[in-house]
Amino acid sequence: MVKVGVAGYGVIGQRLADGVARQKDMELVGIADLAPTISIRALKEKGMPYDLYLVDGADKSKFDAARIPYKGSFGDLIGKVDIMLDSSPGGVGAKNKELYAKAGVKAVFQGGEQNSVADVFFHGYANYEKGLGANYLKLTSCNTTGLIRSVDCLDRKFGIERVAITIVRRVADPGDYHRGLTNALQLEKAPTHQAVDLETIMTHVKATGILVHTPVTHGHFITVVAHGKKKISREMALEAFKSHDRIRVVKIEDGFLGNASFFRFARDLGLPRADMYEIGLWEDSIVETGDDIMYGIHIPQESVTIPETMDAIRASLKMQSDSASGTAETNKYLNLGYWRKDYK
Ligand SMILES: NC(=O)c1ccc[n+]([C@@H]2O[C@H](COP(=O)([O-])OP(=O)(O)OC[C@H]3O[C@@H](n4cnc5c(N)ncnc54)[C@H](O)[C@@H]3O)[C@@H](O)[C@H]2O)c1
Repeated sequence: MVKVGVAGYGVIGQRLADGVARQKDMELVGIADLAPTISIRALKEKGMPYDLYLVDGADKSKFDAARIPYKGSFGDLIGKVDIMLDSSPGGVGAKNKELYAKAGVKAVFQGGEQNSVADVFFHGYANYEKGLGANYLKLTSCNTTGLIRSVDCLDRKFGIERVAITIVRRVADPGDYHRGLTNALQLEKAPTHQAVDLETIMTHVKATGILVHTPVTHGHFITVVAHGKKKISREMALEAFKSHDRIRVVKIEDGFLGNASFFRFARDLGLPRADMYEIGLWEDSIVETGDDIMYGIHIPQESVTIPETMDAIRASLKMQSDSASGTAETNKYLNLGYWRKDYK
């Protein structure tokens, strides 16, 4: 049984902890955080299903005042695990890495860290084998994770030479206040980092794109124009997407009008926190333009990187030796792809 710890029990960390708890070949030893945040308070009200460890600088009196029990220090947690999943705020992971290195413990970092924090910039489908045995892996960001899933899906079947994307980026997570109350679009300098990241991982694909921040919280939306080695027809693309366990193909006529429909659907499914691990892909969005194929995907930003992070543990600890078997194992425990049999 592989022993795993999570550092930073925020938006991503609590979902990573749940994800690990569902993998029957892994044990979640505990989580670590700095402050008695809302998520830590919710954990306490749920009866502390996960042991809590306090990072250096945590004010113990605040945890005591809130009657939140803790098991020990960050060092205690690091000393008990094979691998740490670091989901502390961007930049903090690089500092935590010094502790992991000193203890000889492997780690997986999230998208907010610099690429230089890790030996391998990782995606469970696109470059699992590069992660085999690596000590430090960094996950792609939420948009890049979902984007690569879809491009890799076409690439494996047909070969992809280049893509151009437009990202309509949710401005904050539900529950955030730090971005203010907004009503404006904001453009980033092109090319957007997700396209550059895709090129870094899928080195044979040329990519570029633009990103527009938009004042919504329920997911990002990406359009992709992909150029294959040979022409990919609408039917070929649809068939490929429908056969992928982490892509849910939907139709507008079934009520999936946009980002909010996915959030509503996840709530109606009773998923914890309305977390969807899969990306959404509209059948209605797939169109041919000359020799290229174009489509639109929905990225549930808070939960989309969880499966690929489980893959990173599998690669780092050589639990499975290739992408197909590593991702299949993760998918089994996260119950991914079950909907495919019902899709007509
Ligand atoms: N929010 C998203 O939609 C999203 C999606 C994909 C990737 N990411 C990435 O995941 C990482 C975490 O982002 P988040 O949105 O979960 O942040 P967050 O602010 O919700 O959570 C961070 C947590 O880390 C804790 N923390 C602070 N200092 C710490 C320390 N020294 N050691 C351990 N924990 C500490 C904080 O108290 C907080 O609970 C970032 O790299 C981010 O870029 C975020």
